[in-house]
Amino acid sequence: MLFGKKGTIGLDIGSSYIKVAQLKDIKGGYELELFDMLPIPPDLIVEGSIIDSFRLKDSLKELIRKANIKIKDAVTGIAGHSSVIIKRISLPEMSEEELSESIKFEAEQYVPFDIEDVNLDFQILGPKEEAGQMDVILVAVKKDVVNEYVSVVKEAGLNPVIVDINSFALENLYEVNYEIEPEKNIAIVNIGANTININILKGGISVFTRDSAIGSNIHTEALQREFNLTYENAERIKRGEPLENVSPEDAFFVIESTSDEIIGEVNRSFEYFRSTTSQADIHEVILSGGCVLLKDFPKLFVEKVGIETKVIEPFKNIQIPKRFDMAYIQEIAPIAAVATGLALRRLGDR
Ligand SMILES: Nc1ncnc2c1ncn2[C@@H]1O[C@H](COP(=O)(O)OP(=O)(O)OP(=O)(O)O)[C@@H](O)[C@H]1O
Ligand SMILES: [Mg+2]
Repeated sequence: MLFGKKGTIGLDIGSSYIKVAQLKDIKGGYELELFDMLPIPPDLIVEGSIIDSFRLKDSLKELIRKANIKIKDAVTGIAGHSSVIIKRISLPEMSEEELSESIKFEAEQYVPFDIEDVNLDFQILGPKEEAGQMDVILVAVKKDVVNEYVSVVKEAGLNPVIVDINSFALENLYEVNYEIEPEKNIAIVNIGANTININILKGGISVFTRDSAIGSNIHTEALQREFNLTYENAERIKRGEPLENVSPEDAFFVIESTSDEIIGEVNRSFEYFRSTTSQADIHEVILSGGCVLLKDFPKLFVEKVGIETKVIEPFKNIQIPKRFDMAYIQEIAPIAAVATGLALRRLGDR
């Protein structure tokens, strides 16, 4: 297609930054075509729900203009919170077609909402050791939440083709950038402004997901409280910008003690994973999301969690053309991870 604008964009509608990424298929892999992001006010999306779709639409339009996006087809992602259920379940062996027919019936006992109020999807993970059984990942998303996101994307002039789950986007990104080690359990931990998404992969296959409604916004709130700052100024401190009347040492103290809360939450999810599954321990953590950019956060994380930890490299195996500001892309890479993972999805993928 010489003049066609084929392909999709990945649109990560976070509660503090909206991001867009576009990838180009090249021989043997991918090339970054475009990445951009825009901060949004903290009151547009609250607890995963779009509170102010009017202003969010305007921000999306601004991002599209700023990033010079020509493609309309957008893959967007949502997080868990209370509106998404992801469960690994065991079912009698059957074909994908058969399961499509019966998924509603099978899902009913696992979904705490009216089954008519959710969109259902599933992925068959292959046969279990026990004969005649298979493992399936069941995903149920409340229709009204999906619709909130779909409508705002449409209002921004885009065509929402897939609504993905952020944790799964990171799993796709992981597959592209990392060698799968069959014996290892790897936890991808995405810490944004208001959400933590955890996805634990065993040999590259998801065995546990959990989202918590806490994120680096508690750093912002603590700084605002402690030093009587506006949201914007607290955000500046987090980025390491100097601010009159607040010493970097005092700020760091507040940030560090607040980080403990976030890391504690991750640790509790890890504990839950260990106690509810017969899987072995977690061997490695891959950290993603804006919280990771806080000074010394990864270091503190390792100290508290005691597991080998790496910061995600979303562009490890994705070529970045010379026209990009390399230093900038590397710096914000953990923030770009979900959008890049969403941009990997192609129509027709399951
Ligand atoms: N350079 C930086 N240094 C420190 N913190 C940063 C930096 N840039 C962004 N952050 C923080 O990271 C968070 C944003 O990260 P991210 O974009 O992953 O979240 P989000 O996707 O908007 O939120 P969520 O997914 O929870 O809705 C904000 O709390 C912001 O203050
Ligand atoms: Mg996010």
